[in-house]
Amino acid sequence: MNVPAEILADGPVIPVVVAEHVSDAVAIARALVAGGVRVIELTLRTERALDAIRAITEQVEDVTVGAGTITRPAEVELCMRAGAKFGVSPGLTPALADAATFNGLPLLPGVMTPSEVMLARDAGYQRLKFFPAHLAGGPSMLTALSGPFPDMTFCPTGGVTISNAGEYLALANVACVGGSWLVPREAIANRDWPQITRLASESRALARKWQAAGPSP
Ligand code: 3PG
Repeated sequence: MNVPAEILADGPVIPVVVAEHVSDAVAIARALVAGGVRVIELTLRTERALDAIRAITEQVEDVTVGAGTITRPAEVELCMRAGAKFGVSPGLTPALADAATFNGLPLLPGVMTPSEVMLARDAGYQRLKFFPAHLAGGPSMLTALSGPFPDMTFCPTGGVTISNAGEYLALANVACVGGSWLVPREAIANRDWPQITRLASESRALARKWQAAGPSP
């Protein structure tokens, strides 16, 4: 099942959050929501990630939390149970697609080559993560993919920053961008939640500007 277009439209800039502590994850989510960012990807890169997803779901209002860095089929059910509304994966395997379908978890699978786009499309996905976006060719690669794959849309992640996000959001086949720049490690270490709110507001304003301008021809 694809991640609903409404979720990506609501979160045109999706923060990729890596939180070691559950209380930090909740504070980060609140700081992001205060800055107008309501769709969050909480990665399974820390021991407490599932608890963090559960805590955000239970304690933070007006947020849609997804689970990121899903790389194994067994993680799908755990993420669903924790309350994740969608999943994000850096790639896709048939077993992962089966697990997502079986559990009814909307998934944004990752691709970086034409063959991977075709495999993901065969598995029923039209909305894909393009990862690692910068190393995989950036906006030029996405423009090239729009020729053979006019029916596919992408969420570039990996090397996307406030400086280059606009170049991606200007493309007709880009629905949203993702990145960790909204939630810097130092800000978490210093518990500098106002900085995260500032970065969220900045990113939100940028996304609004590009949404208002519409895709480039
Ligand atoms: C991801 O998991 O999507 C990326 O690791 C995020 O990449 P970034 O740190 O370059 O934003």
